[in-house]
Amino acid sequence: MRTAPLRVGVLVSGGGSNLQSIIDACQAGKVPAQVVAAVSNVEGAYGLERARKAGIPAYGVPHDGFASRAAFEDRLLAILREHNVELVCLAGFMRVLTPRFLSAYHGRIMNIHPALLPSFPGTHGQHDAHAYGVRFSGCTVHFVDEGTDTGPIIIQAVVPAFDDDTEDSLAARILAQEHRIYPRAIQLFAEGRLRVEGRRVIVRAPRCEDVALHNPPLD
Ligand code: GRF
Repeated sequence: MRTAPLRVGVLVSGGGSNLQSIIDACQAGKVPAQVVAAVSNVEGAYGLERARKAGIPAYGVPHDGFASRAAFEDRLLAILREHNVELVCLAGFMRVLTPRFLSAYHGRIMNIHPALLPSFPGTHGQHDAHAYGVRFSGCTVHFVDEGTDTGPIIIQAVVPAFDDDTEDSLAARILAQEHRIYPRAIQLFAEGRLRVEGRRVIVRAPRCEDVALHNPPLD
């Protein structure tokens, strides 16, 4: 059992509501971790503001200011290393990371995706699920590998999709669950309760066997 809080670096591109949920869970003592740096490829991303408000070092690193993807990633890695980051959390980070970056933090990069993977990967998870007409969607926290949203799955949450949902109402229902499962995934990692075997994550946690959801309900 580790004694010092896990040092987490969060990469964002936008509003950073997931970053906020992670900061809040750490500060509330629910997760034995600490967000030690926030980095965005978008200079004015509100996520950076959220970090600063919480007293966390925040860095705008616009990717188009670099001659190559490698140079951009070198800067990200330099910031993460400067803060001794142990776990990298992608939270609405809209840049693909190269194998070089991934190998620098092998097995220590997580991402959150707003759909039940492996369904609806890519940048429009909520839109695609809504357009398909699914009865359930949700969100997934997974370890990052070289594919797009293909890495080993840590935790998922399921939400119903209703006939009168819009893409936005479904996205909002999903986002509320994102804010619950990302901190939980970090907690499980920080407590050493995750083990990756191939593409399967073995989770040492209580389980709930008697669960089934039906939409519409059975009666
Ligand atoms: C979330 O829906 C996340 O799943 C997706 O991008 C969105 C980011 O939202 N990858 P926020 O910036 O955390 O508010």
